[in-house]
Amino acid sequence: SVPSLAASGDFLQCLSTSIPSQLVFTPSSPSFTSVLVSSIRNPKFFTPTTVRPLCIVTPTNASHVQAVVLCGRRHDVRVRVRSGGHDYEGLSYRSERPETFAVVDLANLRAVRVDRAAATAWVDSGATVGELYYTVAKAAPELAFPAGLCPTIGVGGHFSGGGMGLMMRKYGLSADNVLDATLVDANGRLLDKEAMGTDLFWAIRGGGGGNFGIVLSWKVRLVPVPPTVTFFDIQRSVDPGAVNAVTKWQTLAPALPEDLSIRVIVQTNQALFQSLYLGTCTALVTTMSSLFPELGMTRADCREMTWLQSMVYVNSADTTTPVETLLNRTTSLSTFTKNKSDYVKKAITKDSWEKIFPWFNKTGAGIIILEPHGGRVSGIADADTPFPHRSGILYNIQYVAFWTGNGTDAPNWISGLYDFMEPFVSKNPRGAYVNYRDLDIGENTVVGGVTSYESGKVWGEKYFGGNFERLAITKGKVDAGDYFRNEQSVPPLVSRK
Ligand code: FDA
Repeated sequence: SVPSLAASGDFLQCLSTSIPSQLVFTPSSPSFTSVLVSSIRNPKFFTPTTVRPLCIVTPTNASHVQAVVLCGRRHDVRVRVRSGGHDYEGLSYRSERPETFAVVDLANLRAVRVDRAAATAWVDSGATVGELYYTVAKAAPELAFPAGLCPTIGVGGHFSGGGMGLMMRKYGLSADNVLDATLVDANGRLLDKEAMGTDLFWAIRGGGGGNFGIVLSWKVRLVPVPPTVTFFDIQRSVDPGAVNAVTKWQTLAPALPEDLSIRVIVQTNQALFQSLYLGTCTALVTTMSSLFPELGMTRADCREMTWLQSMVYVNSADTTTPVETLLNRTTSLSTFTKNKSDYVKKAITKDSWEKIFPWFNKTGAGIIILEPHGGRVSGIADADTPFPHRSGILYNIQYVAFWTGNGTDAPNWISGLYDFMEPFVSKNPRGAYVNYRDLDIGENTVVGGVTSYESGKVWGEKYFGGNFERLAITKGKVDAGDYFRNEQSVPPLVSRK
């Protein structure tokens, strides 16, 4: 439903009674565009035809967030919440269809409070993972947190969808390490773990952002890291070696000691093996020469550093880049991207890899990133959290197409390769990772004012497998009216069919 102009006016009027005017930006505010664009990652969603919000609210405390929800409910204006703005489909700040909505941008709510003795922290959703890493390591260098590789990812969306990173084999996903949370629900109530109840607390730890309420803050378990970790980047060309090495990597990487993660980035005719080892070079070289001699890793490949430095190095490939760069929230709008994902349960044969590699020399070719599972991330039962890609998964594939210049259309390369990969990846349903949001796998239809369960099931079972129904039932309990809604939000299932 598109609210009338009068409803929009009433909504803004309602906001003005509870929220200082300098925290509310309408398109007529001089800084509206700069606030809107502040965390947009993908220029695809910043064009003259992009459906933009009626206003952006930048709360500085929980009561402001509650007020936006209460005013929105009263005047029939939906809200979308943005933490780091890294959603691959931009659903935190733009709508695919014409719609009047407000954005709650949590960038001002980004405190990180570390309890060193308890090895826990409270982190607000508007913090970036880079800010979290930096603040934890400065307060307690022996502690860290398992989350993603790009420092500007927002905690709010990232934890909501799981959170994969180079320590997930040892410590699981970010969401697996959440101990408590505070959330504003569809009735404007502020709830903690105890008040929200088992189902809702289960749902927000991996069931995807934008579905169940606005999570303001997360209490997380911090994890021990040694004073020295070792990083390596080893590149292999197809001729010789890459095909054999990738073929072997598929079953080896998920079975390696949990302190060792080796991911693979395939680009042109190269495979880059990128690794973080929670230990010293000497131990790593011994492990690598006995388990993965094909890579020919030697001491010369080792980059020893602190864990915090490794989170910089993975992006900069430079050991002298200051760790303070993790605090930089500026994003660039120069590159258009399109991303898709898959899961692999059965190793792809060498013959098939020989047919896959030529895809990376085609016009419009991007890259794929292979993230090994196994260890802790695979040891948790499928139903313990909404994230179902656990036991039996060898690795995740992320497909990335990127381009610059004009045009918002992704190169055909990415859909062509995705189709080509179908025989090799998980099926019934073909799995996907909710944090690699992809509207191609299905979009909701709204029937009688509420998102239909049938339309949600199409994409929902790909992201959540057998957990989708419980997510929908939970949505039905906490937001039966479907207030928090977008093109790929969990539909409310009120009565079991
Ligand atoms: P954004 O603010 O766009 O929110 C994403 C979704 O969550 C939206 O639907 C939004 O409404 C909702 N949401 C946001 N804040 C919320 C809150 N407080 N409460 C409830 N819902 C909320 N992933 C990964 O697992 N490992 C990785 O290494 C990477 N690397 C990576 C690099 C780059 C460059 C990008 C662009 C993305 C990744 N990702 C990733 C994917 C990333 O985890 C995913 O996009 C997250 O949802 C981003 O969270 P943000 O808060 O930044 O997004």
